[in-house]
Amino acid sequence: MSVQADTKRLTPHAVMARKGGTPLVCLTAYTAPMARYLDTHVDVLLVGDSVGMVLYGMETTLPVSLDIMIAHGRAVAGAVRRACVVVDLPFGTYQESPEQAFRTAARVLAETGAAAVKLEGGTEMAPTIRFLVQRGIPVMGHVGLTPQSCNTLGGFRARGRTGEEARQIQDDALAVAEAGAFSVVLEAAVEPLARTIAGQVPIPVIGIGASVACDGQILVTEDMLGLFDTFTPRFVRRYAELGTLLSDAVAGYAADVRARVFPGPEHCFAVAGKAHDHDSSGQE
Ligand code: KIV
Repeated sequence: MSVQADTKRLTPHAVMARKGGTPLVCLTAYTAPMARYLDTHVDVLLVGDSVGMVLYGMETTLPVSLDIMIAHGRAVAGAVRRACVVVDLPFGTYQESPEQAFRTAARVLAETGAAAVKLEGGTEMAPTIRFLVQRGIPVMGHVGLTPQSCNTLGGFRARGRTGEEARQIQDDALAVAEAGAFSVVLEAAVEPLARTIAGQVPIPVIGIGASVACDGQILVTEDMLGLFDTFTPRFVRRYAELGTLLSDAVAGYAADVRARVFPGPEHCFAVAGKAHDHDSSGQE
C-alpha cells in the first residue's frame, strides 16, 4: 500500500513488525505545519528534545522541560493523520525511578495524543522500560550517543570505537529490546557495530549516524533541510538549503517594502462599490 493511500495512524506494533522489512523513514517534528508537510512521507515523527537546541537556541537538550515537550507533542500529534508520533521524555523527568518515569510518560500520552514515548539509556534503564511497557506505555529506546548524558559521555563523539564501548552498546540495545521496547534509536555508532546490533536485536534499530544496515533512519528535519546552521553533524545529508531560500525571500520582501512596491493595488482594500471590494478569500 502506498504511504499516501493509508490514512490510519501507524501504531507502535506496526512499527515493530517492520523489523528486517522496508526501512522505516523517521524524522523529527516540533510544530503542526511541519508535521503536516512530513506526515505523508514518513512512518515515524519524533517530537525530539532536540527542540531545545533547534527552536529555543539551547546549547544542549538538558534544559528542555516537560511542559515544552507536551506543548510541541500536542501540536504535532494533533496535526498528523498517518505517522506514529513519539515524544521524547526530557532529562530529569524519568531517570530517578520507574514510578517517576510512569507519571511523566502517562502525562505525555494523555496530554499530547502521541502513541509512544522515547527515553535514553541502555542496561540501566531496562527495568524502567519494562515497568512502563507492562503498564501500557509503548517505549522507543535510544542507545549509543545519548545526548542527555553528554556531560558524562564527554561530548558528542561517535561511539563504539573501543571493544569495551562496543560491547556495552550491544548489551544496551539487547537490554532495551528484552525489556519490551518496540524499537530503538542507535545514534553515532561506528558502522560494523551498527551492523552487528541491527542483526542481533529483534526490534527495529533506527539509525542516526549508524549506517544503512539499520532497519530505518532518523534525522533532525531542520538539519536535512538546511534550517539549522549552528553546526551540522557528519551524519547529516542536506536535501535542501531552505535557510538560504528563506533569507532570499525575506530580502525580497524587505527590498519591496523599502521601495514602496509592496503592498500592490491587489493587496489593498477599496471603499464600498469600487474595484477590489472583495479579495479572493472573500474579505472586504
Ligand atoms: O531529540 C532528538 O531529535 C533525537 C533524535 C536525534 C533521535 O533524539
